[in-house]
Amino acid sequence: MQPYVLVLYYSKYGSTKEMAHLIANGVEAAGMAVKIRTVPNIATVVKEAEPSIPAEGDIYCTLDDLAQCSALALGSPTRFGNMASEMKYFWDQTTSLWLNGALHGKPACVFTASGSMHGGQESTLLTMLPPLFHHGMMIMGLSNATPALSNTKSGGTPYGASHVSGPRHDQGLSQDEKILCEVQGKRLAEVALKLYQA
Ligand SMILES: Cc1cc2nc3c(=O)[nH]c(=O)nc-3n(C[C@H](O)[C@H](O)[C@H](O)COP(=O)(O)O)c2cc1C
Repeated sequence: MQPYVLVLYYSKYGSTKEMAHLIANGVEAAGMAVKIRTVPNIATVVKEAEPSIPAEGDIYCTLDDLAQCSALALGSPTRFGNMASEMKYFWDQTTSLWLNGALHGKPACVFTASGSMHGGQESTLLTMLPPLFHHGMMIMGLSNATPALSNTKSGGTPYGASHVSGPRHDQGLSQDEKILCEVQGKRLAEVALKLYQA
């Protein structure tokens, strides 16, 4: 099977989705294949189950998509300074992969979008990491070798790419935020390729 980077995200209003696709561009720029996957909405009251294939957009991630990846970029909106429950719910179903060490030694990074500038991006990024550590993954952030990380006036952190979408989530990604997404994907793929070829 051709090695690939899995870009796995949840997005309600589209910001994290746009970041996921920019990260995927960076992966492809490094010459590696990419799978973009999302997770379904969850609700406390359910009248009807959601279809297993979404009507539009990226398809839902299977455990096999995750188990077979060479590297992972994981994205979630900031929800009260933490990852969205939809994404946490997905990780709570990965015990079988944890038991057989399917993700051991694979590189991973995280990204997020928040409504406000100081609304908890860093706490979201850092609290997305424990499940990845438990799975034995190797965590990568961003580096100041990319000038956009120092120059940005909105999102972008050493812990992973980020975006400030504004109170009505209608603020597009800035040029620096876009660069950091693409660099993060490229960097992850370059490391994955080195590990894969070693
Ligand atoms: C339940 C809920 C909680 C949120 N909590 C925060 C928060 O803690 N800080 C913040 O800046 N934005 C918060 N937001 C706003 C989202 O993070 C923001 O709209 C984000 O861009 C959504 O990403 P998406 O466009 O990928 O869905 C929250 C939104 C919702 C619906």
